[in-house]
Amino acid sequence: MCGIVGIIGSTSVQSSIIEALEKLEYRGYDSAGIATISENEILCRRSVGKLSCLKNELSNAPVLGKIGIGHTRWATHGAPSIDNAHPHQVGKVALVHNGIIENYNELKAQIISEGGIMVSETDTEVVAAFCNMFLESGMSPEEAVSSTLGQLKGAYALCFIFEGNEDLIIAARKGSPLVVGWGVEEMFVGSDAIALAHLTNQLTYVEEENYVVISRKEAKFFNFEGKEQPSKKVFVNSESVLVTKSGYRHFMHKEINEQASVISYALGSYTSFDRKRILLPNQIPSFAKMDRLIISACGTAFLAGHVAKYWFEKISGLPSDIDIASEFRYREPIISKKTGAIFVSQSGETADTLAALRMAKSNSIETIVVVNSENSTMARESDIIMPIKAGVEVGVASTKAFTSQLLVLAALVIEAARQRKKISPKQEEEFINQLFAIPRLINEVLSRENEIINICSELANAQDILFIARGPLYPLALEGALKLKEISYIHAEGYAAGELKHGPIALVDSSVPIICFAPSNILYDKTTSNIHEVIARGGKVILVSDKGGLSDFKGDVWKSFEMPFSEPFILPILYALPAQLLAYYSAIEKGTDVDQPRNLAKSVTVE
Ligand code: AGP
Repeated sequence: MCGIVGIIGSTSVQSSIIEALEKLEYRGYDSAGIATISENEILCRRSVGKLSCLKNELSNAPVLGKIGIGHTRWATHGAPSIDNAHPHQVGKVALVHNGIIENYNELKAQIISEGGIMVSETDTEVVAAFCNMFLESGMSPEEAVSSTLGQLKGAYALCFIFEGNEDLIIAARKGSPLVVGWGVEEMFVGSDAIALAHLTNQLTYVEEENYVVISRKEAKFFNFEGKEQPSKKVFVNSESVLVTKSGYRHFMHKEINEQASVISYALGSYTSFDRKRILLPNQIPSFAKMDRLIISACGTAFLAGHVAKYWFEKISGLPSDIDIASEFRYREPIISKKTGAIFVSQSGETADTLAALRMAKSNSIETIVVVNSENSTMARESDIIMPIKAGVEVGVASTKAFTSQLLVLAALVIEAARQRKKISPKQEEEFINQLFAIPRLINEVLSRENEIINICSELANAQDILFIARGPLYPLALEGALKLKEISYIHAEGYAAGELKHGPIALVDSSVPIICFAPSNILYDKTTSNIHEVIARGGKVILVSDKGGLSDFKGDVWKSFEMPFSEPFILPILYALPAQLLAYYSAIEKGTDVDQPRNLAKSVTVE
């Protein structure tokens, strides 16, 4: 999504703002801009494309001034263009925005009916126009912002500056994250901690439906009724927030290779020292009395929840439903007091998942969030936080967060199984031993990634690719297809292997590679019969299985990749590796922007 930053500094802010925007590039964007105030005048520079274009613009026409705002735009209303790029200035007001103003059409009509001229196609410009209108009516900047917020419907993080005032930034949030950074004689505000980590280690997360009045010396926080609110400073370890590629070509490759270590770290946080029991960082007493569990998320996080459904039902005996968050919040699910709800999110800011969480809370059911960003809105609003401790994930394609989500969900499954008396202490210990084998097995898969590179040198030429699997690996077929789509732009679909003959097999011919996740100990015979159906129609099968599964398969596969044999419980986590590597190396072959794939954002904070 869009990235916003504001700085009131003690020296020129141009370079600090650009550096902050560089930290926000991972969110995905298609244009960028900066506005400062110098000698009481707003100076604004905007460009389409990457930050390098904006830097070129600034090298020819720098902006002076010790106060400014910056923006990376992920287009929602209006194509990427100079007119649609932020900051937007109307009269004496300039602002940057992350989110969507849902009633902007009616607001725009009102501005135009009163003689206003709108230059862009964006919803953001309308916000600037309203604020300027209130300012010109004689309101103070704070009154003008507060009145403007009262007009808006939708989600937003906004950052305003005002011509003639070089010691005032006003920022507001509703539905999109915002954080204030504290400096010495300088203050900062941005979309997330990463934007500010190089500037300060003292942060205050702006609460929902709050605005903040920032001067060089301080920040004061208010609710939308204008009542001052207490604020809490948190101290962040900049190293843990600041990330580099550490020698890898892409963040995604680095993060794929971090999985063994982050899972080891998570294991240490979720198991007893003697590895005999699950020990959750925050207690969930209610598994025993739950009669149903809802798991809701988006994208890859949803697929982690999909795997967990199989586990909760098979191991914990807990009826479980999975819901894509954008559907869950509108389908009026039947919820009772004995329903539990788990929301899975790397960013903790995904608008649809956040809305689903809020809906569950409004139905008074206990909400558990499995989240990476522990200061995120979901982390703050849920009843119980289960941190995945994967570290900052920069690549838009989620990798280490996905396997860490699965690890934490597996721990919850074992905890629930014990509470519901479905497993003995001995069985609990056995499951935990299987979890502790994961890091070694991940590294074993990674040690043979050259074989994946060879597969992808041809896979990347395909126009359409199918992924098939059964049981708890079926969500991995979906994840493999999602990963491939989102970073290589090759059309790919994941199917339950048993579903092929109900239509999708019509797609199969000699031009279509079919990637089959078929371990020898999960529905192997059923899956291989589906593979034979595909081969019989000329399909080019890539069989991903363990040694036994590969040697037992009697048929003509196009290519194969050997996975380590392991217990069924942990296979969904292990098979994430080939799914990720096939996508990564296909994208390399295609020459796409692996870390910031087109049209995508790391955190989708709009509906
Ligand atoms: C994953 O590779 C995608 N980038 C995307 O599907 C992502 O998982 C989804 O947007 C959910 O994000 P979240 O985990 O931050 O909520």
